[in-house]
Amino acid sequence: MGTAIAMAALAVALGALLLWLIIWYFHEQRRRGSQDSQLPPVPEVPGLPVIGNALQLRERKPHSIFVKWVKTYGPIFSIRVGSKSIVVLNNQDVAKEAMVTRFSSISTKRLSKALSSVTFDQCMVAMCDYGDFHRTMKRHIIKNVLGPNAQKRHRVHRDTLIDNLVKDLHTHVKNNGLQPVNFRNIYSSELFRLAMKEAIGRDVEYINVEELGRLSRPEIYKILIIDPIEVGLECADWRDFFPLLKWVPQRNFGRKIEKMEFRRLAVMKALIKEQSKQAASGEEMNCYLKYLLTEGETLTEKQIASLLWEVVIESSDTTMVTAEWALFELAKSPKLQESLYEEIQSICGSDKITEEHLCRLPLLDAVFHETLRTHIPLPIVPLRYVHEDTELGGCYVPAGSEIAINLYGCNMDENRWEKPEEWNPERFLDDKKKYTPSDSYKTMAFGAGKRLCPGALQVTLIVCTTIGRLVQEFEWRLKDGEEEDVDTVGIINQKLHPMHAVIRPRNL
Ligand code: HEM
Repeated sequence: MGTAIAMAALAVALGALLLWLIIWYFHEQRRRGSQDSQLPPVPEVPGLPVIGNALQLRERKPHSIFVKWVKTYGPIFSIRVGSKSIVVLNNQDVAKEAMVTRFSSISTKRLSKALSSVTFDQCMVAMCDYGDFHRTMKRHIIKNVLGPNAQKRHRVHRDTLIDNLVKDLHTHVKNNGLQPVNFRNIYSSELFRLAMKEAIGRDVEYINVEELGRLSRPEIYKILIIDPIEVGLECADWRDFFPLLKWVPQRNFGRKIEKMEFRRLAVMKALIKEQSKQAASGEEMNCYLKYLLTEGETLTEKQIASLLWEVVIESSDTTMVTAEWALFELAKSPKLQESLYEEIQSICGSDKITEEHLCRLPLLDAVFHETLRTHIPLPIVPLRYVHEDTELGGCYVPAGSEIAINLYGCNMDENRWEKPEEWNPERFLDDKKKYTPSDSYKTMAFGAGKRLCPGALQVTLIVCTTIGRLVQEFEWRLKDGEEEDVDTVGIINQKLHPMHAVIRPRNL
């Protein structure tokens, strides 16, 4: 027993020494490369031997830690986690340089093992490498789901979403009076219904899954949304940062990933099978599945499952995060809420707000963009990989580095935004309080360049009509003690605890 422990300790010590030598070797290569190119290297944040900056990032909210480091190291710096060197970009100029000007040198992604599983081995528009597959699939998703024409075809689903939401909230008031409502519960269920209609053509109440039995909508929601997000959030598996130690088993986490993958694929296949029968019977269907079955003839069943799942997860999550934060901030700021209500009334009168009104409601637009700025749902763009030597912000960046574009950091840049940490929608209004369509680009919340988010139009339409209609129908106030509850879930910026608000119908 004693010998075994001694052998294990020796193996770990040798492993650590080897790792340190490898890190030193790459560091030297980088230093030499920087000397050859005549450009300075990216400033490094000091860390510990072998593990680098891992301990400083253990809180799992790297985007806000990076903002603190900007004060010492400037807008571009590099960190090390195990053997990985990551260049972090924290202002708009360097972020745009990486996403647009130098894109051709930084166009691939190296995902961790867990993140690969969550993304069906990178078979998603958002997570695959740039190339033919990406271009074709992005065209498909824009043509069928997210582009302007597709959004026109799906308008009926968005109107139903808003009507159901308002109905559910009035029912809550009728049954519970001024008891606080958990907005997230109601909204996420409605968004999921919309996502299912866009993806497979129908809002599913129940489904029979051969491997799992009969599942209700909440069970399907858990398998398709909650479980994969949970695995994704836990995905910073330390073995990914220490390639030499990849052989060390981590059974529990491995089992969790396998279970999630198995259940998700089983549900997606059952949904596809059922809906394919409807499509084959000639039934009129306006959904992505029908399009993929006819247009994407070369796609496998698993690829179709992953592309459909992409629509379901992306439609359900980020939209909910943005709307919840916007209502939280409005409930916290009664004066601003009143100004928004007056703006809506002055444009809509006794009509209910619709998407047609949005371009005449500058304060509503400002609330949306300021919420994206301060509570950005994707604070760090999924890591990009540098496959050939390049430069960023006037510094030499060697091939093999990874790039973290900290959009949250860009939006907290004091040189660009006055008091950046304050939620103040009026900063988006010019002197004439006009609507400015270019606001999306100011926050870069939807990225830039060839990987620009195609879901921006859908999110803008849904979140703006949601906020507008809910402020038109109800006065929002936070439950006592909720104001300070601004903690978030790791790297997705979702509110840690669902918002609980007291809502008072305005027509009482
Ligand atoms: C507030 C909500 C949203 C935000 C802040 C957001 C943000 C982003 C960002 C920053 C990117 C770029 C990632 C990169 O450069 O690697 C992106 C890509 C993407 N987003 Fe969104 N997104 C949102 C909502 C949506 C929705 C609702 C959908 C679809 C239903 C969607 C679909 C996509 C897709 C398919 C990509 C990949 C584009 C590509 O790689 O070419 N997004 N999103």
